[in-house]
Amino acid sequence: MKKQLLLVVAALALALALIQTTRAGDPDILTDYVIPANTPAPVDGGFFTFTGMRALVSSPFPSTFKVFKAGMEQFPALNGQSVSYAVLMYPSGTVNPVHTHPRSAELLFLVQGTLEVGFVDTTNKLFTQSLQQGDVFVFPKGLVHFQYNADAKNPAVAMSAFGSANAGTVSLPNTLFNSTIDDTVLALSFKTDVGTIQKLKAGLKG
Ligand SMILES: *[C@@H]1O[C@H](CO)[C@@H](O)[C@H](O)[C@H]1NC(C)=O
Repeated sequence: MKKQLLLVVAALALALALIQTTRAGDPDILTDYVIPANTPAPVDGGFFTFTGMRALVSSPFPSTFKVFKAGMEQFPALNGQSVSYAVLMYPSGTVNPVHTHPRSAELLFLVQGTLEVGFVDTTNKLFTQSLQQGDVFVFPKGLVHFQYNADAKNPAVAMSAFGSANAGTVSLPNTLFNSTIDDTVLALSFKTDVGTIQKLKAGLKG
């Protein structure tokens, strides 16, 4: 009897572990939507509307690479919905520096211009593509990737969808050379000298 109970517990634990590993989005919520505690009641359609993108429709094109996010932080109604957006604007010759999103894949739709994109998988294989206006590209979850507008004259605009309300961004230049990781640790990690590390750090200082 005791042995049977143990088996049932073990089977349940395994099933739970499998469910955890196969879940693709954010954890499920037990309500239709999540209203933050400080929201004045009652909520209406306005709570489910994000107007933060209006600014980019009416403003002139930015002079540096810019990301406009509609994630959980900017748009609280996304909490628990496993979706978010970003609009990316690339003046000619600009890059979205190498980075990863720890909690989601990224589905990029090129609205305007051309874009050089790429990601590196966990076997260190690089995949690149020259995107034309109208193309859609997927950056798999968690992998290091970038976008570069190589066009000397024309800007590019892309929209990215994420399967998380808070996909997170780990920018490699910033994380490695603009945090407070010890110079010696970085020099040893990159098989170089402390002077080279300090030079890299100097370029990223605010
Ligand atoms: C480096 O860090 C500083 C301080 O957090 C910040 O102001 C600056 O924007 C960062 N540089 C880059 C390139 O992100």
